[in-house]
Amino acid sequence: MQRPPVIDRALIKEIKDAEDERFHEDRPRSAALWTRAWESMPNGVPMAWHRGSYHHLPLWVDSGEGARFTDVDGFAYSDFNIADMSMFCGYAPEPIVRAVSDRMAAGNQFLLPTEDAILVSEELARRYRLPKWQYTLSASQANTEVIRVGRVMTTRDKVLLFDGKYHGHFDEALVELGEDGALVPEEHGLPDDVTEHTVIVPFNDLGALETALGRRDVALVMAEPAMTNNFGLVMPDDGFHERLRELTRATGTLLAYDETHTQVFGPGGLTAMWGLEPDFVSAGKSIAGGVPFGAWGTSDEIAMFLTQMKGADGERTDMVALGGTLFGNALSMAAARATMLEVLTPHAYDHTQQLGQRLAAGMRASVERTGLPWYIPHLGPRAGYVFAPQPIRNAAEGRACADEFLVRLIRIWLANRGVWEAIVGAGPVVPVPATEQDVDAYVEAWDALLTRLTS
Ligand SMILES: Cc1ncc(COP(=O)(O)O)c(C=O)c1O
Repeated sequence: MQRPPVIDRALIKEIKDAEDERFHEDRPRSAALWTRAWESMPNGVPMAWHRGSYHHLPLWVDSGEGARFTDVDGFAYSDFNIADMSMFCGYAPEPIVRAVSDRMAAGNQFLLPTEDAILVSEELARRYRLPKWQYTLSASQANTEVIRVGRVMTTRDKVLLFDGKYHGHFDEALVELGEDGALVPEEHGLPDDVTEHTVIVPFNDLGALETALGRRDVALVMAEPAMTNNFGLVMPDDGFHERLRELTRATGTLLAYDETHTQVFGPGGLTAMWGLEPDFVSAGKSIAGGVPFGAWGTSDEIAMFLTQMKGADGERTDMVALGGTLFGNALSMAAARATMLEVLTPHAYDHTQQLGQRLAAGMRASVERTGLPWYIPHLGPRAGYVFAPQPIRNAAEGRACADEFLVRLIRIWLANRGVWEAIVGAGPVVPVPATEQDVDAYVEAWDALLTRLTS
């Protein structure tokens, strides 16, 4: 049997150095803006962590239209990262531009509801099969609220998450498994006792889940139906979700699915597609076309509990810590209404699924042709790459075959060929307005890189 090719590390570095140099040299206007930006922003970017996310000159954007954006040096990119899925609808879709412009002209925020709030809630209820909805400005905030409500409902404090998760930037979710298996804060600025409120178990490990839930101190399990962060796409084993639901019910634990990324797989995300039965669903990002918006839905029973949080005299009392001045504002609602009713149509999902199939098939063909021992995961509009011959089932398997340097080479190689790739740990996603040409541009550049790496 022929042995699979082994890629020489020195070759990866040689190609990456050359591609990095080309990228920088070709973009003097981005470079000049970045130099200027250091005067007013740490790392010269609006969020200091952005810099670490790219490891190269940050691109400064001029405009975006459809599935492409153009940088200030005039280079256009077919976008397969789509702002970490928040722009799944593409740039400047006409219905969202219209809805947002009209709403802005008629007043965008009142701290009072507009009829759009009802239309959006009805549509979310239809899609996710949970009857009652509440709003924030981001998925992180939606998840924060879900956890707080879960605590009130169960009178327990802890939240259980799966190793390798990302659910946003709030304390309970910024905890990870350290090397010795103990929980540690993921970043600086978190209190030392932050680990006390979180439990982390490996995805797809029903034994560990049963043991953790058996302690009956977990308010809520929060999970993506399929994991989409940090290690690409990690699918649940057959029967995983059924058993998760059984165990949560048996131990008095609530269950929340975070559909922030997985909503791109279909209307109602994987919750609807797989017939899951959570107590909560949360979403954000593309559900309002990238206009700041977060939503969480729940059952009548839990919602009823929220509506009872009022004293006999009608004054507020014992409220759950929810809400913010701009949450549920009229502009976000108008964007969400237009997104769901006019952009994320059944046809749009079909289209991205067909193109996702084309993307994954093209990527697989290159892997097979070059004999690299890599696996190409695929679901709906999303593909990816695993530097091992088989899919990974959890974060530990993901870590074992991760190769950040190689991913960074893939990104810069594609960028120099007009394709914008995922941040490390994600994977390419086909946005709604993408065409076969966009997908073929990705596959062609990918194929050329694999050839270069193996010849
Ligand atoms: C599954 C999931 N949930 C929540 C979030 C947080 O989203 P935001 O940063 O918009 O609050 C993310 C962001 O990547 C995510 O992937």
